[in-house]
Formats: sequence, C-alpha cells, structure tokens
Amino acid sequence: PRDPVAKLLLFGATGDLARRMLLPSLYNLHSDGLLPPALTITGAARQDFDDAGYRDFARAALDEFLPADRKDPATIAAFAERLFYQPTDLSKPECFRPLADKIGDIGGGLAIYLSTAPSLFEPAIDGLSSVGLTGPTVRVGLEKPLGYDLASSREINDAVARAFPEERIFRIDHYLGKETVQNILALRFGNSFFEPVWNAQGIDNVQITIAETVGLEERAGYYESAGALRDMVQNHILQLLALIAMEPPAHFDGADVRDEKSKVFRSLRLMKPEKVPHNTVTGQYADGAVGGKFVKSYAEELGKPSTTETFVAIKAHVDNWRWQGVPFYLRTGKRMAARRSEIAIQFKAVPHSMFAGRGGLLQPNMLIIRLQPEEYIQLLVMAKEPGLDRDGVRLREVPLNLSLDAEFAGSRRRIAYERLLLDLIEGDPTLFVRRDEVEAQWTWIDAIRAGWTANDQKPKSYPSGSWGPSAAIALTERDGVTWQDD
Ligand code: BG6
Repeated sequence: PRDPVAKLLLFGATGDLARRMLLPSLYNLHSDGLLPPALTITGAARQDFDDAGYRDFARAALDEFLPADRKDPATIAAFAERLFYQPTDLSKPECFRPLADKIGDIGGGLAIYLSTAPSLFEPAIDGLSSVGLTGPTVRVGLEKPLGYDLASSREINDAVARAFPEERIFRIDHYLGKETVQNILALRFGNSFFEPVWNAQGIDNVQITIAETVGLEERAGYYESAGALRDMVQNHILQLLALIAMEPPAHFDGADVRDEKSKVFRSLRLMKPEKVPHNTVTGQYADGAVGGKFVKSYAEELGKPSTTETFVAIKAHVDNWRWQGVPFYLRTGKRMAARRSEIAIQFKAVPHSMFAGRGGLLQPNMLIIRLQPEEYIQLLVMAKEPGLDRDGVRLREVPLNLSLDAEFAGSRRRIAYERLLLDLIEGDPTLFVRRDEVEAQWTWIDAIRAGWTANDQKPKSYPSGSWGPSAAIALTERDGVTWQDD
C-alpha cells in the first residue's frame, strides 16, 4: 500500500544532482499532479540561503535544465511555493536542532533524501537521530556512492541501520528508475515466448554495454578515487545483469523482486586473483576525437598521471542451474565512440542449416534492448531476400522492431529520478536496492580489485572516441563472440 509523506527533506539541495535531476524531477511530478498536494520540500546544504534565495536557486536550475515546452511560469511559481531551505553543515552537530525546528511536525511522514558525500552519511544519521528525525514516520533515501568496497559499505549500512530499519531505507540506483530497465521485466514476465529459451540451452551469451562520450566532467575528486568498476559496474551494470538473469518473482513487489535479484548476485562467480587478468580488461582514455571534437586525455583533464580505469570490460559467469556456461560480457567506459546503453542477448545458432553453402550465412538470433539514447527492443531474425533465387536462397538478418519511443509517442519520457522520488515519497521499495544486494555486489567487485592489485594490472590506454582498448575486443573474440554494434 502506498503511504505518502507530507514532507521531503533534501540534503545536498544545492548540488549538481539536485540542479540537473532532482529539482526538475520534483517539478515534473508537481506539474503532473502526482505529488501529495500539501507536500513541502525543504532543502539543506552548506550555502547560506533563506527560503526566497533557495526558490531563486531552484528557478534558475529549472530554467537551465527543463526542456522549453515544460517551462510554464505559473506552474513554476506554484512549485516554488513548496520549497523551503535551512543552511546545514552536516559535520556540525549543532546544525540539526534548527533543522528539526524548521521541519516541524513529522506526524504526517517525512522522507529524507541524502545526496551527499558518503563520508557525511554517518554524521547526518547521527545528527538526525539526536533531534528525533528518525522515528517510525521517517524514511530515508541514500544516493550513491554507498562506500568504495564491502567494508566501507558495511560501515555505512551499519550506521544507517542504527537509526532506521531496513524497510525504511531506500538505496537509490537510478538505472532502476529508467523506463526501459523496468521494461526488461515486462518483456520477460509479461510474454510467454522468451522464457522457455531464456537459459543456457537457448542463449549463447549476454552483452551489457554502457558507453558514454563524456569524460571526467567536474567530478575529479570523486571519480579518480572510484574508477569505472565502482562507478558503473558495482551498481548499474550488475542491476541490469540481475534483471536479465533472475528467476521469475512471484509478485512485483519489494520482497520478491529483490529476493530474486539478490540470489543472482550471490551466484556471480567470484574471480580468483589469478583469473582476473584473463577475464577483465581495464583502460584509460588518451586524447582523441569524440563526435568530431578534440578532447584531452584523462591524465591531462586531471592534471596528473593516474592509474584509475575509465573503461572496464569483464567476462562474468552466473553459477546456477539456468546460466551454466553462459558468459555475461560487461563493459562500460567514458569518452567512447558513442553514447549507448544496451543489452544484447545472443541466442544459440540453429543446430543445422539447410541453407549452408547456398548464399546465406545464418546469423544467430539476437535480442537487443536499447536503453539509451533511444529506447527500443529489437529481435534480429533471418529472413529471405526477395528474388527468384535460382542459385540458392539468400538470407539476411532483419530486425523485428519495437520502438518504445514511437509506440508510446504521446507519453513524455520521464527522468529516472521522477519514478524513484515518487516511490520514496509514497514508500514503495521495489525499485530500490536492499542491503544484501549491495553487499553481494561489493563482494564480487572486491575480488576483481584484489586481482588487479595482486597482478599489478594497470589500465591500457585507448583513444578517446574509440570502443576501448583492443584487448576488450580480444576478450570476446577469443570465445568466437563479437561485441554487438562495434
Ligand atoms: C552515474 C555515474 O551513476 O551514472 C556517472 O556516477 C555516469 O559517472 C552516470 O555518467 C550515467 O548515467 P546515465 O543515466 O546518463 O546513463
């Protein structure tokens, strides 16, 4: 049952995520009439704003990040009325009393969104506890990064657990808010024809790619200590993998969906250190051209040499009955040739081709789930080329196309955070990450990092605007598999 709160408290209210994503998302929810009518939103951050100052700040962010057709002055003015602000330095315990006074009565429910550096999670939780902002009517959303390894993520989870029971903790992975990501569940469990072949008998391999064209942006401090494995694989890519690999949940709810995902994470084959160099490739971008524009190398952007990976490719295995022997190839990188998030599922080849040698090599069927930049699902099938074929039938791969953009053209493409903020406000945990999931993810990630250290594996250079180091191509080619769309 949905249980909306009356108040939202936003830590990190002046940060980049708030400007680009959270304020525009809240505005969109407001403008679509989806927020509880009396919901107030209190921003908290170090900047010294009063309510009016924060309303101006929010209006400027909306002006910068909303598409022109969403900017309605009257709606923006009404949205701004919901906003309040309290200057808060999370490292100063004395800041919490004035914050609690500002928030006032929490009997109608309070949702807290912590979009801050992870080092501030613990002081924030302690401060909130000290002024009673953690009671049974309060739930808390945690933005990534949730630590940088298993030990640090346990520390954060323990600190939060001292103040909130697990059912009131909402760990955010914004990929779970994306419409096409949720569509994986619709595709698998709303149709009968995929599931019988959705296993090691029917599927040859699975590829998951999140390629970005952006570089370091303004995040040197964070990114340099994280790297691609922690930044993208530990969370987003593993969540995609789990949705592809999990068993059918009995119900679409927080308990059943997360139980099944968690089992997948626990089935990931832990890499022994000596296996890591064979199963992972790391890279760091050199200078080059992305989309016709010259860009600097990572080290130049950073201003110093670095061994942080901006690209990683991994051959992973899910060791359970369904997936025995099926490789999951994962890759993600910055400054790649194109922005593309996609899952490609390659089915087994037909056992015998009656067309062999007669003008048509059979390609194995492929299911492509494209998340970005477009949203579509495509099934690549073999079809006969038109013609009289006197020297043999000619076959060609053609797509069966489901363009979600075109099919649902009337509906606006929402920001992933709209879904997640609404679920936090209404208390639906299904699309949030449970503690056991995060810890199983980190266990697998830590084993890879340990292998990198043990083998002194350093990232290989790749030109900006490419698909990563050539070793990433060799990672699949040695198994006779080609990355889709290279
Ligand atoms: C974030 C990472 O979690 O996801 C960023 O920290 C990355 O490095 C971003 O750019 C990608 O998200 P999206 O939604 O643009 O694919």
